[in-house]
Amino acid sequence: MNAAKPHIAFDVDSIRKDFPILQRTINGQPLVYFDNAATSQKPTQVINCIVEFYENYNANIHRGVHSLSQEATDLYEKARQKIQKHFNAADAHEIIFTSGTTHSINLVAHGFENSLTEEDEVLVSALEHHSNIVPWQMLCEKTGAQLKVIPMTPEGELDLEHYSELLSENTKLVFVNHVSNALGTINPIEKIIKQAHQVGAAVLIDGAQACPHLIPDVQKLNADFYVASAHKMCGPTGVGMLYGKTEWLKKLPPYQGGGEMISEVTFEKTTYADLPHKFEAGTPNVCGGIAFGKAIDYLNAIGLEAIAAYEDELLNYATEKLLEISGLKIYGTSKNKTAVISFNVEGIHPYDIGTLLDKMGIAVRTGHHCAQPIMDFYKIPGTVRASFSFYNTKAEIDALVQGVNKAKMMLS
Ligand code: ALA
Repeated sequence: MNAAKPHIAFDVDSIRKDFPILQRTINGQPLVYFDNAATSQKPTQVINCIVEFYENYNANIHRGVHSLSQEATDLYEKARQKIQKHFNAADAHEIIFTSGTTHSINLVAHGFENSLTEEDEVLVSALEHHSNIVPWQMLCEKTGAQLKVIPMTPEGELDLEHYSELLSENTKLVFVNHVSNALGTINPIEKIIKQAHQVGAAVLIDGAQACPHLIPDVQKLNADFYVASAHKMCGPTGVGMLYGKTEWLKKLPPYQGGGEMISEVTFEKTTYADLPHKFEAGTPNVCGGIAFGKAIDYLNAIGLEAIAAYEDELLNYATEKLLEISGLKIYGTSKNKTAVISFNVEGIHPYDIGTLLDKMGIAVRTGHHCAQPIMDFYKIPGTVRASFSFYNTKAEIDALVQGVNKAKMMLS
């Protein structure tokens, strides 16, 4: 469990009023939404921003002399600046809009296709989501580079001693998530980045699970690439971002060809646009980008520090209560974790627990959570994962505990 942090007054009842979906019932029961690591719910402020865009500003951007196009362009570029400020990137052109974390990672992996050789090694952590494994495997297949794994410990932390041993002058790239989606572990990425840089390797941090809870300062971290999705941060699906240091983004080739990413096109030769447009081919998710900015405003108005402190309270409470259930085991017991609890109950398949919880209105994720290597490590088919957000309550956790007890009684 996490060390107690100073209590910050947190008005969860008033926050819940911002989320219309929390009024829903599922199977006749009030919805208890504990699948926040899969996607967060959206506040009225973000929903209204989407409606407002389509009612008042809808136009294609960067290509119209007319007022509507200019207004939409202005809002989109302002959203980019908000994201830049939030992550403390040195320049707005270091923020590339993508369709989400997976797109961002694939963009970077593609960028290294022509520069890696058979002599090179890339390191990926054992705690990764498939989206931070498969693109690198594909890159290694194409280039002949070796993929090596930074192992994990039974607590669900990275084995940093082993990591130091794996690093060498052959290491070119290192990929680690900031927070594990399956276990909630917060990885010591500052240290990981520093060590990688000592051997000249570049580092990509998958921040998809960290950004709803923490504010990564990309300059302080000295990350080469940092990627995230809006939909985990109270924003819409289908939009995310890639932060890349200017020097890297200048070096990498474009990912997709098309409109917007060019400077001049002839049938003989095409020259590419400057950053960030070089990586933004085609009509982007204009409304999504603007709503991403609105979601960041929303989170910052509450305060990420207050959010993290409140979620820690939920995590500690739920950990204590769930562990009172005999036969229940929690996977991922790092002292440094976000509000994610992955668990199993002895003798019961996680899918059966998830299905019964749904009948009680409680939404959890079951299965391997797109992190099969972690499940293989623990030699289990999957877990039940309850992931909490700042709009959840202790009363909802009581309902979960009651629900697991009931499911256990029915299934044993
Ligand atoms: N990556 C998302 C999850 O962990 C979908 O559930």
